[in-house]
Amino acid sequence: MVNKEKLRLLDNKNLKKDILNQVIKSPVFSNVNSLLRMQQIYEAGIKEIQTKLEILDSEFKVKFDHNPIHHIESRLKKPESIIKKAIDKDITLTEKEIMNHIHDIAGIRVICNYIDDVYVVAQLLIDQDDIRLIKIKDYIQNPKPNGYRSLHLVLEVPIFLAEGAQPIHVEVQLRTIAMDFWASLEHRLRYKTENNVPEDIKDELIQCAIDISELDHKMQNIYNRLNHGQRNQ
Ligand code: GTP
Ligand code: MG
Repeated sequence: MVNKEKLRLLDNKNLKKDILNQVIKSPVFSNVNSLLRMQQIYEAGIKEIQTKLEILDSEFKVKFDHNPIHHIESRLKKPESIIKKAIDKDITLTEKEIMNHIHDIAGIRVICNYIDDVYVVAQLLIDQDDIRLIKIKDYIQNPKPNGYRSLHLVLEVPIFLAEGAQPIHVEVQLRTIAMDFWASLEHRLRYKTENNVPEDIKDELIQCAIDISELDHKMQNIYNRLNHGQRNQ
């Protein structure tokens, strides 16, 4: 398995040869169990947070007849991407250093129906006893200059292993369906143009993000008015 990973890395055109030598001699790759163990722990982290989210969503359905979550996506960062990021960020290639400094090995994306749902779901998750908030970046209140909007959390969650609890970090991105629509297309456009989107198109994308955000607020407003109406009937 680890040999297979080494071969995959050797094939990776993004890594220079001298860096590859460094990688292959590093503790993460020389210890057969290290990579597999890391993958297993982070997979458990994804399951843990995903279950918490599903429970919150179904509780809301029963209590308020409303599902805050439209759907959930998750991904485990590939070993070559972990190594590439570690090298880019000057992180020593040991399991401990990687686990301490790379927060997005386990990634969960929560696509919510309305803007208020994003904040409600995030807060309910952060408030849970076994969760610790490590980092929060609110790109909804403070969008990125290119128009990107989402709420990013890094959460610490304990994974209960045979030898005891192991706290790990999971990156959670929360956004509305509309924000996700923009981010998915923008990501693909950036990939297609190899990060060289022409300036006039960049401006159009910023305007699209603003238009989409206005729609999000209009939809939230309609939802609030309808819900208020229902309660008064
Ligand atoms: P790293 O995660 O270490 O790169 O740095 P960071 O913590 O500053 O990351 P950031 O908060 O910018 O979020 C990183 C993730 O958010 C990316 O992997 C994407 O999934 C998403 N993201 C951030 N900016 C953009 C953007 O402009 N467009 C799109 N489509 N996604 C983005
Ligand atoms: Mg990231």
